[in-house]
Amino acid sequence: MPGGMRLHWLLLGACGWVLLILMFVSKYNFFRAVDDYGEKAGQSWTAPGIMVNKSRPAPPPADKPSEAPTLTDWQSVIDHRRELLSSVCKNNSLKNLTHVSISKFVLDRIFVCDKHKILFCQTPKVGNTQWKKVLIVLNGEFPTVEEIPENLVHDHEKNGLPRLSSLSPQEITQRLNTYFKFLIVRDPFERLISAFKDKFVINPRFEPWYKHDIAPAIIRKYRKSHRDTGHATSGLRFEDFVRYLGDVDGRRRMDRQFGEHIIHWVTYVELCAPCEISYDVVGHHETLEQDAPHILRAAGVDRLVTYPSIPPGITRYNRSKVENYFSPISKRDIRRLYSRYQGDFQLFGYARPDFILNLNN
Ligand SMILES: *[C@@H]1O[C@H](CO)[C@@H](O)[C@H](O)[C@H]1NC(C)=O
Ligand SMILES: *[C@@H]1O[C@H](CO)[C@@H](O)[C@H](O)[C@H]1NC(C)=O
Ligand SMILES: *[C@@H]1O[C@H](CO)[C@@H](O)[C@H](O)[C@H]1NC(C)=O
Ligand SMILES: *[C@@H]1O[C@H](CO)[C@@H](O)[C@H](O)[C@H]1NC(C)=O
Repeated sequence: MPGGMRLHWLLLGACGWVLLILMFVSKYNFFRAVDDYGEKAGQSWTAPGIMVNKSRPAPPPADKPSEAPTLTDWQSVIDHRRELLSSVCKNNSLKNLTHVSISKFVLDRIFVCDKHKILFCQTPKVGNTQWKKVLIVLNGEFPTVEEIPENLVHDHEKNGLPRLSSLSPQEITQRLNTYFKFLIVRDPFERLISAFKDKFVINPRFEPWYKHDIAPAIIRKYRKSHRDTGHATSGLRFEDFVRYLGDVDGRRRMDRQFGEHIIHWVTYVELCAPCEISYDVVGHHETLEQDAPHILRAAGVDRLVTYPSIPPGITRYNRSKVENYFSPISKRDIRRLYSRYQGDFQLFGYARPDFILNLNN
């Protein structure tokens, strides 16, 4: 083969590789990952002039008599959750675990659907990607949930689902006072297990800093036996993670290093300010099958969109999983963790997990 010809083929081959690599990168969307970790923001920034009307708006008219009775019954479950929330918010002995300011960090968590007057506070590990898709469809950017490209769901520049923080203080106040507002929560300890698995064991979204920066830092500070810190990257243990989460002061210092708030394990209180913002519905992941259609109906959009189907069993609370994860952990560390997340347990009606708090050691 003459030299010129060989060069030609080499160049073609190189172009092919570059193309392949580009396709791979865009498929796994390496850059999207920045979004999650980038969600940190100064918590001290309090949006000026935001006044939230404490009295709740009247519930939407109970028309549509054709609905199945189960949905009507579900309203009493929702009412009960709201009453509990507002009574725990008033409990002074829990005040610093239940109250936060409506900071930019909180406004960053809330997505706006102006077309149907809906606000959704995003909480990780409860199917929020599906809710975002539902809202993107309602905002009119895409006709159906299936047609939204996966990489656009978290790209808030392009998906037509703005954050509340992108609006002016007057616009924010007006929406907080008049729009239908909801969030989804789940058992706080099961949520932490899920975050641990997702960020330190599986890490499906290619966010290397969890394993390479955060895990070694936690191990260095919180692993009791330092003999095996040599291969720190070989794995954060759940007990290291629990010790880090439960250590209020040490964690504050460390999180500042990591970039303040890591949304995957800050409390629901810090994410969504549920005592300051009067959410109309608090959905529970454990009962998402009932809550999802109820939320769409209460928001008046049930005829326009349906929540994507939920694989059976995945939302159920798994007590034996919680037992398995917590059984090697000392009672003292579990108590500390509980006192850190107690606000979330009590506000949303999750029972104190005595079955692990009263374990042996
Ligand atoms: C607060 O809401 C109540 C009931 O929705 C309404 O009557 C009242 O005018 C509102 N106040 C302000 C300051 O928006
Ligand atoms: C407030 O919360 C504390 C701690 O959970 C509880 O012991 C107390 O009974 C609560 N007070 C009221 C009035 O509910
Ligand atoms: C709550 O406030 C008390 C004192 O008012 C303080 O001792 C405690 O550490 C605070 N708890 C948290 C989680 O900030
Ligand atoms: C609960 O979690 C355990 C793992 O800890 C798993 O083996 C089991 O299948 C789960 N149960 C259900 C009902 O999902």
